[in-house]
Amino acid sequence: MHSAYVFDAYGTLFDVHAAVRKHADAVGEDHAQLSEVWRHKQLEFTWTRTMMGRYVDFWELTKQALDYAFEKFPNADKSSKSLLLDAYWELDCFSEVPAVLKALKDAGARTGILSNGSSGMLEAAVKSAGLSDLLDNVISVDRINRFKAMPEVYQMVVDDYRLYPDAVSFQSSNRWDVAAATAFGFRTVWCNRGNQPDEYLDLLPELVLADLNGLIGADGKPV
Ligand code: LAC
Repeated sequence: MHSAYVFDAYGTLFDVHAAVRKHADAVGEDHAQLSEVWRHKQLEFTWTRTMMGRYVDFWELTKQALDYAFEKFPNADKSSKSLLLDAYWELDCFSEVPAVLKALKDAGARTGILSNGSSGMLEAAVKSAGLSDLLDNVISVDRINRFKAMPEVYQMVVDDYRLYPDAVSFQSSNRWDVAAATAFGFRTVWCNRGNQPDEYLDLLPELVLADLNGLIGADGKPV
């Protein structure tokens, strides 16, 4: 068991494709591809903006990425854009998340989020998913105006929790985020929800799980 279990937000606790799925009929037949491009561009913008030293917050980049995705799929109905953006503020969490967080807290571990999301977005998502009482700390990169995978991002966790990196278990569904957290020194868990191929083979997670249930052992204790 680790002292703190810190989670990536988008894709790990919250389903980033839930927004488009909820309004799939309004978007039209390209909805699934549009959602993929939206997510991919959103992440690309975080990496390039950080390298350029031109920070723009995650909400602004989320909107710019959606504009791009609609340009890429001209048959998608642009009038659904505001529905998708509104839905992003109240994304569904994955079904196992509340019970897993509760089991971690019951075992005496501290819990938290470390995310590229802006503080406002994270606060809204946590509240709408009913996770407020299950998380001790929500850390947004907007405190330092740099996105993952900069080491300074992961440093915020050890500073806030006053722990050595190896006392922190970091969970992410994003393999690149797991690689960066491993390089930083956290114990890492790749929640491979999409059954993606492995990558960053020199920066391996300690555990690979299909969903977060595997964080809790058969004895009910965190692993
Ligand atoms: C986050 C993105 C990477 O929540 O999903 O930080």
